[in-house]
Amino acid sequence: MSTPPLSQDELKALVGQAALRYVVPGEVVGVGTGSTVNKFIDALATIKDKIPGAVSSSVASTERLRQHGIAVLEAEAVAQLSVYIDGADEIDAKGYMIKGGGAALTREKIVAAQSRQFVCIADESKWVDTLGAFPLPVEVIPMASARIMRQFAALGGQASLRLKDGKPWVTDNGQHILDVRGLKISDPLGFESEVNQWPGVITVGVFAHQKASVCLLGTATGVKTYTF
Ligand code: A5P
Repeated sequence: MSTPPLSQDELKALVGQAALRYVVPGEVVGVGTGSTVNKFIDALATIKDKIPGAVSSSVASTERLRQHGIAVLEAEAVAQLSVYIDGADEIDAKGYMIKGGGAALTREKIVAAQSRQFVCIADESKWVDTLGAFPLPVEVIPMASARIMRQFAALGGQASLRLKDGKPWVTDNGQHILDVRGLKISDPLGFESEVNQWPGVITVGVFAHQKASVCLLGTATGVKTYTF
């Protein structure tokens, strides 16, 4: 009898566990946000005595880390992190990603920028040829939303304000999120640089300048490791 394929949840747990080998004993670890990272945090709890603590990219991850008794340090308290571990909404063969489905993209990019290595953990549904099928999250200053939506329309994208219970979603930074559909991002570095220049954009969810250095991809045949 053949064994049933692993569920998406099981694949997330697999890569969350596999990421432990990138954690450097004695060093603070950077921790991302999302359902895959939650699996990593649960795995991290089993080796929590080996690390002084974590720098977190969101209120949600901070709460989960603390529930496990893992110390959470402010980003400013640590000059450089050896590794940042986070999920992605999409990742391509160069390690470029779309992130921000969980609205934590700004802090994720900040913590990624202060880390020597970005280890992306993802199930195989996230692997793409070209970024853009997943609606691109963009954190914006609310007064700029309408203009930024028009700027995306000029690029062929349809931006909509992310809502929660009928009201604008408010990020950990007190700002709003636009989700942009219909883009095909063939030049992630150029695209990220361009959108970063638009007044009112806080963070665009393309992670090309802060791309992954490693991807642990959960597949039906086990964890595949890609280095970029
Ligand atoms: C959070 O803002 C995101 O960048 C997440 O890393 C991304 O959405 C992946 O989340 P899941 O692991 O829940 O799919």
